[in-house]
This record gives sequence, structure tokens and C-alpha cells, in this order.
Amino acid sequence: MSLKSQLTIWSIGILTLIALVAGSISYLFAQKGVGLFLDHQLRLVAGSVDEGSQLPSMQKKYLVEDPQKREYGFVIQVREQNEPVRSSRPDFDLPIGNTSGYSDQVYRYEKWRSYTIVYPDRTVQVSQSDIVRRDIASDAALFAALPIAGLLPLSWMLVVFGVGRILKPLADVTMAVTQRDASSLAPISGRNIPKEAAPLITEINSLLLRIKESMESQRNFVLDAAHELRTPLAALQLQIDNLSQGLSQEDLQARIRELQFGMQRSAHIVGQLLKMAHYEAEQHDSVRKRVDLGEAIKRCISEIIPLAEKSGIDLGMVCDEAAEILANENDLRILIGNLLDNAVRYTQSGGRIDVSVEVLEDTASVCIVDNGPGIPEELLPRVFDRFFRVNGHGSEGSGIGLAIVNAIAKRESVEVSLENRKDAKGIKAKASFRLLAKNRSPDNSA
Ligand SMILES: Nc1ncnc2c1ncn2[C@@H]1O[C@H](COP(=O)(O)OP(=O)(O)OP(=O)(O)O)[C@@H](O)[C@H]1O
Ligand SMILES: [Mg+2]
Repeated sequence: MSLKSQLTIWSIGILTLIALVAGSISYLFAQKGVGLFLDHQLRLVAGSVDEGSQLPSMQKKYLVEDPQKREYGFVIQVREQNEPVRSSRPDFDLPIGNTSGYSDQVYRYEKWRSYTIVYPDRTVQVSQSDIVRRDIASDAALFAALPIAGLLPLSWMLVVFGVGRILKPLADVTMAVTQRDASSLAPISGRNIPKEAAPLITEINSLLLRIKESMESQRNFVLDAAHELRTPLAALQLQIDNLSQGLSQEDLQARIRELQFGMQRSAHIVGQLLKMAHYEAEQHDSVRKRVDLGEAIKRCISEIIPLAEKSGIDLGMVCDEAAEILANENDLRILIGNLLDNAVRYTQSGGRIDVSVEVLEDTASVCIVDNGPGIPEELLPRVFDRFFRVNGHGSEGSGIGLAIVNAIAKRESVEVSLENRKDAKGIKAKASFRLLAKNRSPDNSA
């Protein structure tokens, strides 16, 4: 149900309930007030009656009795020495009380309210029919409750009008968003918006801004990716064109090798792009489990060993402290694998790479230290950017490896840093994980 309907229904319901209660209370109070007033009147009339000299003239009124015209329906009776002597209404023998004061009695199936004054020589009683009293009281009570009943529909209309007015800015925002072009990510105007709804508009606007930035970043990513792929594809095209020219068997073999290399490079870029897209995607269900960090690192090393051996690099584990962490094994393999791949790829033949697992308080760190060329200090902050490569390193990288590392690190809450070694030339790459347990006896094997 809409907020407008809910507010309207609740307000109208509450107003109606209050009106009913207020009307009933006014009605009851008015009835009670009129009852007291009529009692007072009875007493005044009784007090003003003398021995009854004025009664005969009053009797004329009752000669032809019309119940509709009873007016205030007073019956005035005077008794002397236990004998009723005079009455304003002849032949109406309402019993006369023996004590002064108010009394209620039933006479001829009708209820009567009386006030009696006992004098030494006479008794005066003034009575009034309860029907007449109730009629007068009801009329007065109705008049008291009537304004409330009359104002109720007006209050309903005011509620409908007021709620509509209060919610108009929200309705305007809804209309503006509904009519919006799908590509428009401009902020929503929160002018005149109620204070309570303002945070919602602020949040939506900040979400729109983030979507805009994300879309821009995606667009740049596609542009960069296309640009990166264009170079090897153009080279491939050129090599294929050259194939049609009459070549010797030897030249042909060389061209085919170049073609294979070009294909590999393109496939590598596409593979890296896919990984990048996967790790930067918003939704990613990471299944984490307890992992023995040292064992996982040894598996990563064994995967890269053939490449290291081919390049004549001495790659080994120099320190393996017991550490258990919570991680997604595949993500961990790719993260460490990319750091190791860089160390092997950018370290010259005959170089050395030392890998260690160290525990400090509640952190387990993997350090990969190479003695390659290092990275110029001013370029270090950019190495995690997509497609960034340091000129002069010569290797055919795509510049995405560290961006993937960064994306995984963000997801898995791993701290990754890259710095130039202080003691010698080379890079020290460090990945720090939250330690779960020190569960294995130290085993410093390479
Ligand atoms: N250990 C290292 N020693 C020297 N330079 C490095 C090292 N690690 C990274 N770099 C530099 O940082 C750049 C970015 O590395 P990154 O891993 O992101 O991309 P890549 O290795 O060029 O390509 P990819 O990993 O996608 O195949 C590299 O091109 C290289 O110049
Ligand atoms: Mg790399």
C-alpha cells in the first residue's frame, strides 16, 4: 500500500475515533448538565408557589391535553393537612412526598422527577415527566455534539489535501525518475524533499555517482583492452599477409614461430582480461577454507619452477614458518602465482628468488624477494594499475597481472605491497594474511 494511502487512512481513522469519543463525551456531559439545570428549575418553581392561588389559571392549559404541547410538563401540587387541595393539572393524583427534596417516582407507567417542599401548613410538590426531561436533555446534547459531527468530513478533506501536499515532493521525485532516460545518471534533485527522505535521495545520488564512475571505468577498460589487443592482432595480420609471399622452407618455419608467439601473446592478454573481469565483478562467491600457507606456496613454486629453470634462475623457499589462514585456494594460487611469475619474468638469467613464509603476531606474510632490475621509485605507485608496464623491462607482459593481484587482495582482505629492496637491487613483493593458527612445527626447507 502506498505511503499516501497509509497516512490518509491512519489520519482519517484517528480523527474519526477522536471525534466519536469527543462527541460521546460532549453528549453525556450535555445530558448531565441539562438534568442538573432542570432539577434546579424544579426547585425554583416549587419555591415560588404560594398556597396555590395561581394554580387555577394554569389549569386551563390542561383542559385539552396535548402531549406534544406539554412544554416543560410541570405539574404543581399543593397539599394541606394530608389533603390534596390544589393542582395545576386536575385529576392528576401524582403521590406527594412527605419530606423535602428530590424524588423519582412512576405514575401511570411514566417516570416523574419531583421536588417537594414541606411547610408547616402545607406541602408543595413540583414534578416533571422524565420523557420531557429526556427530550430536552437529548436536544441540548445533540446541539453540543453537532459541530463535531459537522466538522468531521471537513477534517477528512483537510487530511487528504494535507497528505497530498506533504508527499508532493516525493511524487515529483518519483515522476522525475520514471521519466528519466536509462542512460541519464545525473543526480536526482532533492528540492523541498521532507527531511526524513533526504538521506534516501543522498544515498541514491551517491549510488548513481558510483554507477557512473564504474561505467566510465568499464568503458576505459574496454578501450584499453581493445588497444592492447590491437597491437598483437595487427602483427599477426602482417605475418599472415607475408605468408602468401614465396618463402623458403626456413623462412616459413620462422614466420610460423612468430605467428605462434603472436597467438600466445594474444591468448595471454585475453586470458588475463577474463581473469581481471572475473575478479573485478561485483558478485563473487568465494569459498574459503583453512589453508596451510607454506604448503600452498610450495605448490605455487612447483608450478613456476620449469620457467625459472628455463631462465636459469635459482628459485627456492628460505623460510617456512607454520601458518594456517582462511582463504580461497584458487584465488591464493593466482595471487601468489602472479607475484612469482613477475619475479621470474623480470629477473635476469642467473638471478635468485627467495620465498619465505613468516609469522608476526596475528599476521602471516609471504615474501618474494628477487635480485632483478627493480622498479624506478617514482613508477612504483602505478604498478597495480591496469595495463601499466615499466618501459625497458623487455618482457612481453600485458600489464594486468598486478591489477588481478590487487582485485583479489581487495576481495580476500589481503595486504599486498611491492617495494625495491634496501640491501640490493631487486623487488620485495609481500602478501600479508590474517593468521588463523600456528599449527605446524617450523620446517625450513627449500
Ligand atoms: N619483480 C619485478 N621486478 C621488476 N619489475 C616488475 C616486477 N614485478 C612487476 N614489475 C613491473 O610491473 C609491471 C606490471 O606488472 P604486471 O604483472 O601487472 O604486468 P605484466 O607482468 O607486464 O603482464 P602480465 O602479468 O599480465 O602478464 C611489469 O610490466 C613490470 O614492468
Ligand atoms: Mg606479471
